[in-house]
Amino acid sequence: MAMRSPLINVMCKAADKAARGLRRDFGEVEQLQVSQKGPADFVSNADHKSERIIKEELKKARPNFGFLMEESGTEVGPDPDTRWIVDPLDGTTNFLHGIPHFCISIGLEVRGEITAAVIFDPIKDELFYAEKGAGAFLNDRRIRVSGRKNLHESVLATGIPFRGHGHIERFQKQMDKAMRETAGVRRFGAAALDLAYVACGRYEGFWEEFLSPWDIAAGILLVKEAGGYVSDLRGKPAILANGEILATNNTLHAPIQNLVGH
Ligand code: IPD
Ligand code: CA
Ligand code: CA
Repeated sequence: MAMRSPLINVMCKAADKAARGLRRDFGEVEQLQVSQKGPADFVSNADHKSERIIKEELKKARPNFGFLMEESGTEVGPDPDTRWIVDPLDGTTNFLHGIPHFCISIGLEVRGEITAAVIFDPIKDELFYAEKGAGAFLNDRRIRVSGRKNLHESVLATGIPFRGHGHIERFQKQMDKAMRETAGVRRFGAAALDLAYVACGRYEGFWEEFLSPWDIAAGILLVKEAGGYVSDLRGKPAILANGEILATNNTLHAPIQNLVGH
């Protein structure tokens, strides 16, 4: 069992507090599916509430740090080099449809580098965390990326473009190759969890384009600390700002990049 650092404890506490609200609201959303109006406004409220709780908790514990949050944007703190990057509900479409696969993602960025990460799935009660140089953990047990070396045995995850989002033709080409060469491709609908699943070896690789920093900040560190490899689709170091990502175990990075890279 791992000993959580004070910093990771702060992040876990914030995620846990927000998760209590999300869990309760998810129960309501399941009921609202059959209503005329549908649960859209309710979910947007749940999302904002989660963000408020996380911000409040993090600010209380580390008053000098700034924020980059999906709903409320950027806030520069007294320490301009350090900020939290937060997605208060990743997997909103799943949540909205009563599909129990979503999470909270919190990354800490120091001088442009992610140094601590927490991703929490409140339904499966899976808490992923990592700190730079200290390894990656799931529910306090050390995790590693998958040891599979063969593309044909590999399962990949991705994000499928949807209405008004993504590049359909390019994606179709990527899928065409990935479908022919791998054991399967999945679309789970929460990018932060996709990265966490690569980190704990559930699938060999994940790629997606047009993502935002809060979707991937925490997940990038998790994969790296679990011994994996993260880049953009050209194989260059992953940059939060360009929104594309290829995260794999170490052995399969080049073969998977051959399938889905530019
Ligand atoms: C979305 C999810 C999804 C990805 C989308 C993201 P949200 O985040 O991570 O898997 O395909 O591009 O926007 O909106 O649920 O926080
Ligand atoms: Ca997201
Ligand atoms: Ca979100």
